[in-house]
Amino acid sequence: MLSRSSSEATEAVLQTFYDKLEDFSVAPLWTVQEDVLVNEPKSKAVPHLWRWSELRPQAMRAAELVGTADAERRVLMMLNPGLDGRIATTNSLFSGLQIVMPGETARAHRHTPAALRFMIDSKGGYTTVDGDKVPMLPGDLILTPNWNWHDHGNDTDSPMIWLDGLDIPLVRMLESVFFEPYPEDVQPITQATDFSFLKYGAGSLTPAWQTSDSTHSPLMHYPWDKTWEALQGLAPATEGSPFDGVVLEYINPTNGGPAFPTMGCHVQLLRPGESTKAHRHTSSTIYHSVEGSGHTIVDGQKLSWEPKDVFCVPGWTYHEHINASATEPAVLFSFTDAPVLQSLSLLREQAHPDGHQS
Ligand SMILES: [Fe+2]
Ligand SMILES: [Fe+2]
Repeated sequence: MLSRSSSEATEAVLQTFYDKLEDFSVAPLWTVQEDVLVNEPKSKAVPHLWRWSELRPQAMRAAELVGTADAERRVLMMLNPGLDGRIATTNSLFSGLQIVMPGETARAHRHTPAALRFMIDSKGGYTTVDGDKVPMLPGDLILTPNWNWHDHGNDTDSPMIWLDGLDIPLVRMLESVFFEPYPEDVQPITQATDFSFLKYGAGSLTPAWQTSDSTHSPLMHYPWDKTWEALQGLAPATEGSPFDGVVLEYINPTNGGPAFPTMGCHVQLLRPGESTKAHRHTSSTIYHSVEGSGHTIVDGQKLSWEPKDVFCVPGWTYHEHINASATEPAVLFSFTDAPVLQSLSLLREQAHPDGHQS
């Protein structure tokens, strides 16, 4: 008959042994077992909201003080207060506010972290992605995938400000960051303007003479007018998700997959007065309020958002959304690390047992 064994060693003897182990760069697992194999995850990141009314003046001030020749990118990083200064907005995702002033370019470069841009304020301007000049109007989503050359330009008379979303914390953790400046400030434009949109923007109609085996979406531009049309068309016709209202994913039009292997992008419409049920998932999410006002309850904490605010929901944290207006819809853009967790069989989702948080 086999059984679990026990020891008579005193605390002092054990401590002497543990101290000795340090000489060999080893340590006892059994003393930290409960920190490692937790019953369920608890993110160090905390729910947090960044107000547009507070950030916009700071972005404008940054534009006064720092030129695009001085800063590779003029970005205000949104650092999660729970992550001790790590360059991260949630455990695996990064978000920032980038500003490009009239007449400025941000020089061409490429890097392995993938980036998305959700346009907040502009009268135009562009990002060139691997020779494709992509227009940037408010509400547009622009992708600059892993290792694609990109530079930004503002040829209008009004500041361009957008939300940056990157998988930097994840790629840094995997020690796979590579960066390279382009030999010139601006890369040549080698395609018709907005070429990826011409080629893949019809969504259900894609070029039949080519297949794409790219791991990211070949569509670099998801214009707001198409997004809004899709939301408006569908909202009166369906209940949508109990947790997210009418929520749509920005997909890779060639395979229906997420925009990037590391990040998925969504937009959701909450009808006037709509409140969703609470759920949680191991993926974390960063939200940007495109229009409308409301609040999201995250881990029992109320984050009240106004247009253009940004907030985060750490992984495995209950959250539910409420559109406070009785007359106007609210629209939230969001991005998530769910594709990573999905591909590693680590994506779990759970509805709140009571439907809502207390
Ligand atoms: Fe970049
Ligand atoms: Fe969710």
